[in-house]
Formats: sequence, C-alpha cells, structure tokens
Amino acid sequence: MSEPKKLFIKTYGCQMNVYDSERMVEALGGNGYVEVDSPEQADMVLLNTCHIREKAAEKVYSELGRLKLIKDERPDLKIGVAGCVAQAEGQEIMARAPVVDLVVGPQSYHRLPEMEKAIQKGEKPVDTDFPEEDKFEHLNKRARTLRGPTAFLTVQEGCDKFCAFCVVPYTRGAEVSRPKDRIVREAQELVDAGVREITLLGQNVNAYHGHEKGLAGLIWELAEIDGLDRIRFTTSHPNDMDDALVDAFGTCEKLMPYLHLPVQSGSDKILKAMNRKHTRDQYFHLIDRIRAKRPDLLLTSDFIVGFPGETDQDFEDTMDLVRRVEFGASFTFKYSTRPGTPAAEKPQLPDDVANERLYALQALITKQQRAAQDSMVGREVEVLFEKKGRLPGQIVGKSNYLHAVHAVGPESDIGQIRRVKIVESGPNSLAGVLV
Ligand code: SAH
Ligand code: SF4
Ligand code: F3S
Repeated sequence: MSEPKKLFIKTYGCQMNVYDSERMVEALGGNGYVEVDSPEQADMVLLNTCHIREKAAEKVYSELGRLKLIKDERPDLKIGVAGCVAQAEGQEIMARAPVVDLVVGPQSYHRLPEMEKAIQKGEKPVDTDFPEEDKFEHLNKRARTLRGPTAFLTVQEGCDKFCAFCVVPYTRGAEVSRPKDRIVREAQELVDAGVREITLLGQNVNAYHGHEKGLAGLIWELAEIDGLDRIRFTTSHPNDMDDALVDAFGTCEKLMPYLHLPVQSGSDKILKAMNRKHTRDQYFHLIDRIRAKRPDLLLTSDFIVGFPGETDQDFEDTMDLVRRVEFGASFTFKYSTRPGTPAAEKPQLPDDVANERLYALQALITKQQRAAQDSMVGREVEVLFEKKGRLPGQIVGKSNYLHAVHAVGPESDIGQIRRVKIVESGPNSLAGVLV
C-alpha cells in the first residue's frame, strides 16, 4: 500500500463551515488522504473560508501569502480555497493568488475527489456551481472513526431573507431543506459512532421545511433515536419561530434549554433599514412566549453596531433591548460594508463612533454573561463530558445551557452525561464537582 497523502484543512466562519470541513475530509479520504494538523506536513491544504465581514475575507489572502512560502520550498504542495470566499470571488482568487490550485464553492464540494485528480494532472479547476444534484447524496457516509460525543448536522442551507448588510444569500444561495429521512439516517450514523448530542445547523435553521411539521417535527423525530440525548439548533431567525417550535422548548426533554436568536438591533428604524421584517416589540413578545414555556432558557444573540444611519438614540434602543432581555451571552459586531449588498450604498458611519458603541455594548454583554454564569453557582446541572482538561484528573464538557464546565473525574466519564454541582464561576467556564 502506498503512503497516505496528507490533508490540512483550516476552517473559518460559522459552524456550517465546520460541518462542511468534516465532510470534505471524509470525501478526500476516498482519494487516499488523511487529515494532519499543520500545513508544513501536508500534501494538500484547503482553506474553508468565510466572507461575512471584510476582515474574514482578508484573512484568507494573508494565509495564502504564508502558504506561498511553503509552496516555494515544496512546489508539489496543492492549495485549495473552499467556502464562501470561493463562492463570492471564484476565478478572481487565482488571479490575485496564483498559488491556488483549486476553488470550490459550498454547494459543489462533493466534486472535490474529481477536482483533486484534475490538479494532480496540472489543471486548475474552479467550481462555484449551484448544481442540480444534492451534494449530500454524493458524499460518503459519515465516518465511523472515533469522534467526540457532540456533532453538527446541516439540515438546511441558504437564505432568502436578504438582510441589507449580509452576503449569505449570495454566497450560499436560496433556502434549501434536506429531506427528513436522510437527516434521520445521518443522525443514526452519528449516534452509532458514539455521538450523544447533535446540533442541527442551517443559515436559517428554523425555516426548515423538509418535514411537514417544520423544524419542530424534525426535532421530535430525532428525539426518537435511542442514544441521542441532546438536540440543539442554530441559527434561527425570529420570524421563523413557529408555535410548534416554541412549544417544543417546554415539552421535548431532549431539546436543550438554549437558544441563539439574533436580533441585530433594538431600534425599529434600524431593524427596518436592515430589512429584518420585525419590530423590537415583536422580539420582546416572542422571548416572553418562549420563556413562558422554558423559564430557565439561556438566550444568546448577535448584534451589529454602526449600521448606516444609526443615531445615538438608535444605539440607546439597542442597549435598552439588551438590558430588558438579559442575554446569557452574545456576539457583537461592528458593521462591515460588503460590496453588492444594499447597505453598502448608504452613507457609512465614522469608525470611531462605531468603535465606541461596540465597546459599550460589549461591556454590557460581558456583564450579563458573567451574571448568567455566576447564577449557576450552587446549582446542579447535567454535563456531557467531551475530553480531558488541562489539569491532571480534570475532564471538561458542556452543561445543558452550553456553559463550559470542568470537574475532577474519571476519564471513563468522557462521552457520558453526569450530574454536576457548580461550585465556581470563572471568566469563561464553570468549575463543578460530580454528584
Ligand atoms: N443567519 C443568521 C446569521 C448569519 S451571519 C441570522 O440571521 O442571524 C452571523 C452574524 O454575522 C449575523 O447575525 C450578524 O450579526 C453578523 N453579520 C452579518 N453580516 C455582517 C456585516 N456586514 N457586518 C457585520 N456583521 C455582520
Ligand atoms: Fe444573513 Fe439575514 Fe440571512 Fe441571517 S437571515 S443569513 S443575517 S440575510
Ligand atoms: Fe461566513 Fe459563509 Fe458562514 S460567509 S458565516 S462561512 S455562511
């Protein structure tokens, strides 16, 4: 047998890219590749890229600059660009970075095995199609190799919402849902490989319509799988939270008490300019309904500050929304102008104004995050242990609220759900003792 070829894949952006990267590794496994953890060791490097903000896209070109140095020494090294920058820029990437051998978009990576053969012959393939065929049906089964007890599973891709700031509808295309039977089958394959918690993924996961009863219908079906103990989903749009899904938070034991529900702004004027199609009051009302079903729900969100036209009062409305809702954590972003999106045409805010707002919002969010963590001290939570910790004898995992928890415990508890009493709250994690 010949030596396996070595693949290094670097993932940027959202969890959907994490999932896609796993599947790309599995796909290239068929061509004799095994994954390695540095580009220096690799025969092929794939960058699975993100286009959401300017910085994200620029990182790719600086990484390609570093890879060029390796390729100068080892001209055999093959370099591929996948993901959302690949989709957005296609052929242009090769013009700007001639070291690149292949470009593949998020909808066509099932064709990677053929593309890999083409680059071995010196070709430079570019594939950013939105093909007719379903890529998932052309991908290998999920690998049964040893994996951690948690996994992502993409159920829906693309977005039809066209928020005024966002590139995703252009890079990922229109909303498409995978058929429910195939998702159930993939979930079973993951459970057979030792997975106990699955996070269902989609750019707008709660717009899932591959089940007659929507995402809630799919969750109930997955909840039937023996050995699957925890279900989560992300990312949701407030307008797609239907009654069945809200109810599931109160009735489905396997659905974890955690929800990421981006709102972006607390100002009605800005929400409208962003084309989010709901008001702040509608968001408050929705949160009230979900919390009525699940009072201990840990809620997180995404915010953009410095959107074109955002006044001090608009920003104050965002701060007010955050104070009223009380989030367990949140991501805060400074608005980044994306060419081709409607908001890019509007007069932009001065950078220092946006920075000041970003710091103020981050400070408030951090305070709320600490408060949510501190409130866990003294409580008992269920922790799914995932791996060994940094200190000897320590194991780490996630609580049902998705807090990182570490405890002293036997290695045999890795992969198991244990009751843990929280004894201490640190900046980024909780310390507990097994009960
Ligand atoms: N589909 C999800 C989010 C996808 S992008 C949703 O609807 O919420 C993840 C986050 O990146 C968004 O929630 C938004 O807060 C942020 N984001 C998207 N485009 C951005 C831009 N142009 N500038 C700054 N942040 C942006
Ligand atoms: Fe982007 Fe809006 Fe779609 Fe989310 S809902 S992916 S922010 S366009
Ligand atoms: Fe980035 Fe594409 Fe995800 S732009 S956030 S990797 S969908």
